[in-house]
Amino acid sequence: MNAPQSPPTLSRWTEPGSSRVPFWAYTDPQLYQLELEKIFYGRHWCYVGLAIEVPNVGDYKLTWVGERQVIVVRDRVAPKDRGVDHGIRVVENRCAHRGVRFCQQPHGNARSFVCPYHQWTYKLNGDLAGLPFKDGVKDGDCVNGGMPPGFDLKEHGLAKLRVEVLHGLVFATFDADAEPLADYLGPKVMPWLDRIFKGRELTLLGYNRQRIPGNWKLMMENIKDPYHPGLLHTWFVTFGLWRADQKSRMVTDAHGRHAVMISRRNEGGQNAAVTTGVTSFKADMQLQDKRLLDVVPEPWWTVDDPANPGTSITPTVTMITLFPSLILQQQVNSLSTRHIVPRGAGEFDFVWTHFGFAGDSPEMTRRRLRQANLFGPAGFVSADDGEVIAFSQDGFAQWGEGGSTLCELGGTGTGGAEHMVTETLIRSMYAYWRKAMGQ
Ligand code: FES
Ligand code: FE2
Repeated sequence: MNAPQSPPTLSRWTEPGSSRVPFWAYTDPQLYQLELEKIFYGRHWCYVGLAIEVPNVGDYKLTWVGERQVIVVRDRVAPKDRGVDHGIRVVENRCAHRGVRFCQQPHGNARSFVCPYHQWTYKLNGDLAGLPFKDGVKDGDCVNGGMPPGFDLKEHGLAKLRVEVLHGLVFATFDADAEPLADYLGPKVMPWLDRIFKGRELTLLGYNRQRIPGNWKLMMENIKDPYHPGLLHTWFVTFGLWRADQKSRMVTDAHGRHAVMISRRNEGGQNAAVTTGVTSFKADMQLQDKRLLDVVPEPWWTVDDPANPGTSITPTVTMITLFPSLILQQQVNSLSTRHIVPRGAGEFDFVWTHFGFAGDSPEMTRRRLRQANLFGPAGFVSADDGEVIAFSQDGFAQWGEGGSTLCELGGTGTGGAEHMVTETLIRSMYAYWRKAMGQ
């Protein structure tokens, strides 16, 4: 890879607009550090998990905001705050004494957190509760050592993130001045979150985890790219889960950073307009186990159409991308959150959390789990995405500074669309990224 030719803080993006994304945006390690600062640790809300993952007081799980490991924990709620305080805290897993990542269990239950090195003890809300030998050690009439007289426990807690919980989804930010979460998500995206989550109790069905050798933004692009599913994915084009002959809509928030791809499946099979010459279409491919596509429509799929008052809409798939690191997937009966955890410019971890609803019958739970086989690291569909992301990163790295991608399907503009033959959502994200990064 060629070395960057100018410092990342200076504007290097010389093309107009956001339809040509320079390869250095994916490969430059200095720029990546700046992304961590400005995006992941800056004025953005990052997904950290589901409230049902920590159901009881003291339950915690480890997760990530950017490359910083954080603890999501359920704290006690004072009686006067019941109904106002959700009780969920997010604190950084970094001891205030000498910086140790003190918690090592991926999840568990704790009364407090104790750092193993010198046993500083923290309350569930991150406050420092106490430390050994704070007042020194008595030796006859004198006292040896101890912390200086002005040492105040209150000033030495863990780094606490701001937390908001929306319909059971937990978000956190390091920025005390970040706008409220609802404003951050915006009124155009919110109805699609409400459709899946509002008023429903979630159940946790399981996890997949994978490491993908590509830049974290490529994963966001992949889920903002309605062009590829009917071409790359044999499963989608053959069985009609997502392809260009379906009625679709692309939605963005006012900044272009978040998006929703909405579509309705058809019966699949041959349609000359979208299958001729498409090598991933396999006319004679049949399912050995038909239960993989035993789709049962659910009442909540139908909602008032936010764009056309007085009419309703019944998508079978909505793919929601919440910048910078969350994807929410409804693909027929399969539901998951997908959390992007960046690990350097050229790699990220991808954590899938499959969920259902508390009212689901055992059959529906089994159905959701069966359909989840389409997704995850070895999913019939998603394995393809992981692979092309790795191929993309390889292509960028072999060329270096001067190259760029071309995202001009449907023009060079940004914003929503009423079809899927467009790369507008990708352009919209990079228009926002340029602003956020000062590029
Ligand atoms: Fe944590 Fe010393 S580093 S107690
Ligand atoms: Fe895909």
